[in-house]
Amino acid sequence: MTEAAVCPRCQGTGWKLVDRDGIAGVERCDCYQQERGGRLVEAAAIPALFRNASFETFSTQPENPVAHRALQTAVTVAASYAREYPAGVKKLGLMFIGDPGTGKTHLAVSVIRRLMARGFECVFFDYQNLLERIRSSYDQSSGAAQREAYRTALDCEILLLDDLGAHRVTDWVEDTVTSLITYRYNNNKPVIVTTNLRDSEAGDAPVPSGMAGDVSSRWYLSERIGIRARSRLFEMCRVISTRGVEDYRMRKNR
Ligand SMILES: Nc1ncnc2c1ncn2[C@@H]1O[C@H](COP(=O)(O)OP(=O)(O)OP(=O)(O)O)[C@@H](O)[C@H]1O
Ligand SMILES: [Mg+2]
Ligand SMILES: [Zn+2]
Repeated sequence: MTEAAVCPRCQGTGWKLVDRDGIAGVERCDCYQQERGGRLVEAAAIPALFRNASFETFSTQPENPVAHRALQTAVTVAASYAREYPAGVKKLGLMFIGDPGTGKTHLAVSVIRRLMARGFECVFFDYQNLLERIRSSYDQSSGAAQREAYRTALDCEILLLDDLGAHRVTDWVEDTVTSLITYRYNNNKPVIVTTNLRDSEAGDAPVPSGMAGDVSSRWYLSERIGIRARSRLFEMCRVISTRGVEDYRMRKNR
C-alpha cells in the first residue's frame, strides 16, 4: 500500500482516538465503514442491470394517479425498513409482490444497498439460478462452489431472493424452497423476496377468467412454492404490493 492510501485519521488501523469530555477513547473510523460497505457490495453479487438501482433513481410516477399512490407507499415502506432494520421494524423481512416490470427488483436492490451502507451483509440470489446451483451441487465434479452458494443463501445475514416461484413446480423444488425458508425462519434470519405470483393475503383478487397478459401472474404463490413456505413468508415479511402499476419496460418503449 502506498503512503497516500493510508487513512490519515486512523493510520489504517480502522480505529481513531477520540476525546470525550477529557477522557480518551477509541471509535471506529469512517474509513472502516466505507471499506466494509465496499466489500459488502462486491460480495452481494447484484446483477449488473441493477447495480446502481436506488431510491433516488426510482420514479413514483406523479403523472399517473393510480400508480403514484401504490409506488409512493412502496417507496415509503421500503425506505423506512432500510432505515430502521432491525430494531425498528415489526417484521424482519419484506415481500415485493406485483406484476412484471413494476419496479420490485429495483426497490429490493435499493433497500439492500442502503442496508449495506449501514454495514449489514446482504446477498442477492436469482431464485431460478439458486435452484439450479443447489441441484448441481449434488453433482460430484461441480459441487463445491455450488454447495457454497446454498450455504450462503442459508446463512447470510439478509437474503434477497429475486423472482420467487419463477420455476416449474416439482416436489424437489417445493421441498428445497421450503427447507431454505424454514431454516431462515427458525433462525430468525430475514428474507427480502420479489415475486409476481398472486396471493389473496397481499390483496390480489382471484384470477380473472380468460385473462391475457403475463402467464406467470396467473399462478398463485402457494401453487409454486407450497403452502408451508408461503405461510412462513407471510409471517416473516411485510408485504409491499405494486399490483396494477403499469409495466415500466413497456412504458419506456413507447
Ligand atoms: N418507477 C420506476 N422508476 C424508475 N425505473 C423503474 C421504475 N420501475 C421500474 N424501473 C426500471 O424498469 C426495469 C424493470 O423494473 P424491475 O426489474 O424492478 O421490475 P420487476 O417488478 O422486478 O419485474 P419482474 O417481475 O419482471 O422481475 C428496471 O430496469 C428498473 O430499473
Ligand atoms: Mg424482478
Ligand atoms: Zn481511518
